[in-house]
Amino acid sequence: MFLNIPGNLMTKIEPDNLPRHIAIIMDGNGRWAKRHAMGRIRGHKKGAQAVRATVTACRELGIEYLTLYAFSTENWGRPDDEIKALMSLLREYLEKEEKALQKREIKLTTIGDIDKLYPAVKTKLKEVMRETQNNRKMVLNLALSYGSRDEIIAGIKKMMEDNLKGKLEISEVNVDVVERYLFTHDMPDPDLLIRTSGEYRISNFLLWQLAYTELYFTDVLWPDFKKEDLLKAIHAYQQRERRFGLTGEQTDKNKVSVKK
Ligand code: IPE
Ligand code: IPE
Ligand code: MG
Repeated sequence: MFLNIPGNLMTKIEPDNLPRHIAIIMDGNGRWAKRHAMGRIRGHKKGAQAVRATVTACRELGIEYLTLYAFSTENWGRPDDEIKALMSLLREYLEKEEKALQKREIKLTTIGDIDKLYPAVKTKLKEVMRETQNNRKMVLNLALSYGSRDEIIAGIKKMMEDNLKGKLEISEVNVDVVERYLFTHDMPDPDLLIRTSGEYRISNFLLWQLAYTELYFTDVLWPDFKKEDLLKAIHAYQQRERRFGLTGEQTDKNKVSVKK
């Protein structure tokens, strides 16, 4: 399982303390392109290669859930040609990776408003999701046309509708109930969030779900992100003490586990 790992980093990773769910804000494609005197689209293309490498590395390590922020609700405001290029890159990615996902028993899921995606992308996405739905080795969850505020608003609306229909009482609303109304209802909260490119913000990503996630920021631009960078992030995660509001003494004794 731990073969082909760069350097000695792998020896430092504790296999029993891996994050179950890693979420990544893949940022810096544009700056990478600029640095290499190329257009932004070339940066996105190189970014797609980093996606491939990261999915493979997570699958090899035994990470259960990998959520990648690929396109935000705010990204719709970018120039038309960039949106167009991102849509076709996404379709290309799905076409190229379809077989590999199936072979490696990876299930593809999405969060976000996929109805807004270009029709050809949506069709391909649905096809790959259908094909891979019974895979159990890892979940690759793509956040596409995703915005956490939209997700929360959609959840509130659905809760209010259910309340009017008599299916949900106000007194029943609690953390577990709210979670059932989010796009992520069938997955645990992320244990580790990685953001590349030296930006220290959340950019409307998983606002509810990140409540107790360990945050890791790196200056590496997404197209340069390698397996080694992933291992560094996991290693940093393993040095953290997750206290969930308790005291250090309490968590030492009881080893608080992540919910779900
Ligand atoms: C992340 O890279 C990819 C998407 C948001 C789709 P950016 O395109 O945001 O790259 P920078 O931030 O301009 O460098
Ligand atoms: C966040 O990156 C969205 C994705 C990575 C898909 P952005 O580049 O869009 O975020 P801001 O604009 O720096 O906040
Ligand atoms: Mg950016």
